[in-house]
Amino acid sequence: MTILLPGAAGYIGSHTAIALVQAGYDVAIVDDFSNASPEAVRRCEELTGKKMPLYEADVADKAAMEKIFDEVKPAAVIHFAGFKAVGESVAKPLKYYRNNLDTTLTLLECMAEAGCKAFIFSSSATVYGARAAVPYTEESETGGCTNPYGWTKFMIEQIAAGAAKADPDMSVVLLRYFNPVGAHPSGRIGENPSGIPNNLMPYITQVAVGRLPQLSVFGDDYPTPDGTGVRDYIHVMDLAEGHVKALEYALGHKGTEVFNLGTGHGVSVLELVHAFERASGVKIPYRIAPRRAGDLAEVYADPSKAERVLGWKATRTVEEMCADSWRWQSNNPNGY
Ligand code: WQD
Repeated sequence: MTILLPGAAGYIGSHTAIALVQAGYDVAIVDDFSNASPEAVRRCEELTGKKMPLYEADVADKAAMEKIFDEVKPAAVIHFAGFKAVGESVAKPLKYYRNNLDTTLTLLECMAEAGCKAFIFSSSATVYGARAAVPYTEESETGGCTNPYGWTKFMIEQIAAGAAKADPDMSVVLLRYFNPVGAHPSGRIGENPSGIPNNLMPYITQVAVGRLPQLSVFGDDYPTPDGTGVRDYIHVMDLAEGHVKALEYALGHKGTEVFNLGTGHGVSVLELVHAFERASGVKIPYRIAPRRAGDLAEVYADPSKAERVLGWKATRTVEEMCADSWRWQSNNPNGY
């Protein structure tokens, strides 16, 4: 059974491709390499010992995608393709709406034409906006997003759920990721942001490896135990295994289901910095900087629905997240 993975040359998709192959599925990957490298897929093949057919195409390109669906005949699609830089989405909103919505619409149209009924989407905790109280459950209020990136996730959730409502044979699973960090324990694949990282963990690892001079901690006056922002960091291999469970669920059900993929455990910026220092043995120079616009004090999941319904639970510790991020970054100081 082949699963089509648009965008899986990227961070989360590449780790998920490995977990799927290890669970016995065949995968095929489509990517335009606008923010990813074919080397990631080559290394996934090396790690699994299995071929992963790789198509270079824009996922919004209907004619190209129809051909790929024809060839691959996927049993399900796990959609990772999308732009994801929050700050850039504020500066270039139309680029984000055009790309993230068009790729999704093309995929759903191709699925309808090909009779492919299972769709799993990389959504984000960002859809909860600033309205709900932590911990977020799947029933917490969504919307009120603070940037176009977040709105694309929100809108795609509506689009996919609408498609499933119109086709009673369709299954849609929306996965709301919290803060993915870590890397495959081999250190061969990992997160490879282009330019200066926006997210905390890649920033820390690039300071550790000497590519950046110091970390700015955005605010130490939040109403949290040490004053710095609290997030639910989840190991990317736990996240990858969550996709395998979500796929099994999607193949056996109809309709739309939403799951939080997080640990349920909040970690502050300074706690993560210190855990990283212990795991790597490298000191991270930092300064306290002003709060970053749009940031919330605390974001963490209630992940109990995924445990109850999917039988999935994150098991890896913050120490493993730091050790694996460091192994990847120190073995690949300049990425792929
Ligand atoms: C985490 C914490 C920062 C960088 C965003 C998106 C989300 C998802 C993941 C991605 C916060 C602090 C960060 C730095 C810092 N999207 N921080 N110094 O903001 O929770 O989530 O990325 O594809 O949708 O909103 O993650 O890693 O940017 O920040 O102090 O240099 O680290 O203030 O408290 P965030 P993050």
